[in-house]
Amino acid sequence: MKDIGIAPSILAADFGYLMRDIKAVENADYLHIDVMDGHYVNNISFGIPVIQSIRKYTDMKFFTHLMITEPEKYVKAFADAGSDNITFHVECSDDPDSLIDQIKALGKSAGISVHPDTPIEKVFPYIGKVDIILVMTVYPGFGGQGYLPSSDERIRKLRAAIDEAGSDTVISVDGGVTRANIKQIYDAGARLFVAGSTVFNDEDPAKAIEDLIKCCTLS
Ligand code: DX5
Ligand code: ZN
Repeated sequence: MKDIGIAPSILAADFGYLMRDIKAVENADYLHIDVMDGHYVNNISFGIPVIQSIRKYTDMKFFTHLMITEPEKYVKAFADAGSDNITFHVECSDDPDSLIDQIKALGKSAGISVHPDTPIEKVFPYIGKVDIILVMTVYPGFGGQGYLPSSDERIRKLRAAIDEAGSDTVISVDGGVTRANIKQIYDAGARLFVAGSTVFNDEDPAKAIEDLIKCCTLS
């Protein structure tokens, strides 16, 4: 993967015009797909049939973020629906190691996500095992929230642990990413940026993606 990646989150798209909105962000590296079950988070988004449907009309890589309990029951269905990456929450699994193995055995990239209230050290054992560690920088469940300032320090700690391990696990961040703060988050050590409102609330989503990349590279 190149140094900086952007993953627009379709949670901020207009579901009535979902494919139109996805087509507008095909210059991005991934499409971020937020699945919520009303149990792990207090919101319900969409599920497997929606992913199956959009898979038919785009070649984008699907970064599927499962905000669901018992993710082990569903990873095969999300893989079959066309996910390229499957990311589950460390808080939702009793056995993350075997779940990571399960995702990899399905031929998919694996990710583990961590809630803002969970110590960041909780994901350290999975460095080098997963492709992506997704640091939640807002409380999971809703788009349009502000970036939690305490996230910078969490990202820095994770960056140091990954570098010390000599691993190529990518740090992704999810929530509240804007043109104004992306550089600071990049400097803390993140490389793959999920962005919902910043991209889809813009009248030119493709340009918003380019802007985010440009903001990262400003010195
Ligand atoms: C929150 C989701 C995020 C959300 C980000 O639970 O996981 O992916 O869509 O939205 P913004 O970028 O608007 O904070
Ligand atoms: Zn997400």
